[in-house]
Amino acid sequence: MKVLLSAEQIHQRVSELADEICRDYAGQELTLVGVLKGSFIFMADLMRALKLSLRCDFLRISSYDGKGKAGNIRLDFDLIQPIEGSHVLLVEDILDTGQTLRFLLAHLATKKPKSLEICSLLDKQLDSTLSQKVRYVGFQVPKQYLVGYGLDLDGHYRELPYVAQIEI
Ligand code: IMP
Ligand code: MG
Repeated sequence: MKVLLSAEQIHQRVSELADEICRDYAGQELTLVGVLKGSFIFMADLMRALKLSLRCDFLRISSYDGKGKAGNIRLDFDLIQPIEGSHVLLVEDILDTGQTLRFLLAHLATKKPKSLEICSLLDKQLDSTLSQKVRYVGFQVPKQYLVGYGLDLDGHYRELPYVAQIEI
């Protein structure tokens, strides 16, 4: 396992993202929507760095083959609170093929938020069209399998305070 992003680098970048988000949403209430399970650690750090009026909710998705391939995505559970008329920021751990994000954007749009933006900690940039739609990106990362800071391999390694490359 090779460390790609240290805990310090992540901490620094999360606080930069939070500053940017605070500027963009100054004076407004923001609803963070976290995608379980991968985003929960990033979401917790980001949320505590935001000096805004906040609400949060979560949804959970999974893919049948574990890789988020097209058509294989399933909504395990949905948001509890309505987001109609709210400014929503979708918080993701990583963009790989982008299939998960496409699914989520279509799903959330049906709930008629006032605005809908995306914040992803990591982006492998496999889908450049989609990457352009992501307003806040922590780091561009290599197209390799990563674990830590919420990211797992078969349920393990989410607790690591850093992001590492792992051979699979
Ligand atoms: P996508 O639909 O291919 O963009 O990726 C969907 C999901 O797969 C992400 O939200 C992650 O939960 C997971 N994923 C993609 N790449 C990695 C990785 O390198 N490590 C751990 N999980 C990943
Ligand atoms: Mg995810």
